[in-house]
Amino acid sequence: MSKNPVVPYILIFALGIGLIFFMSMYGIDQQKEIADANDESTEEGTKDDGEEGASSEFDAEAVAQQKCIGCHGGDLTGAVGPSLHGEDKDPEELHEIIKNGKGGMPAGLIEDENIDAMVDYILTLK
Ligand code: HEC
Repeated sequence: MSKNPVVPYILIFALGIGLIFFMSMYGIDQQKEIADANDESTEEGTKDDGEEGASSEFDAEAVAQQKCIGCHGGDLTGAVGPSLHGEDKDPEELHEIIKNGKGGMPAGLIEDENIDAMVDYILTLK
């Protein structure tokens, strides 16, 4: 009896299905991780807002993670831009720098009405 010529195709087909299944499970895991990470940052942000009594939806920590870490480093302890921890500048001066930029620091990254909240956040960094 000769080998059925379709068998290799069925094998490849089964392998393909297996691979797709594996990859989708992997994707679901990653989605969970991303969702968990988001949850954490949202919770922290809400706590911060509560302490400072800020009323806006602006989450300074989350925005910093999006817009500032590229230059100021992952934990804002400095990279291209200086560390934002232990700032000894006046809030007005920090506001000014965030609003108008300075040297390599771009102006207008934060909407005017949210700059104070960002300054407050920076001043919580020890
Ligand atoms: C393109 C790179 C870049 C990005 C993005 C960036 N910064 Fe900066 N930042 C700098 C540099 C460079 C300096 C130093 C400027 C100087 O003193 O000449 C600086 C300085 C500062 C200072 C003054 C610190 C000090 O003690 O002098 C503050 C506050 C600051 N940045 C906040 C922010 C915030 C908040 C964000 C995100 C919204 C941000 N930066 C995003 C590059 C960047």
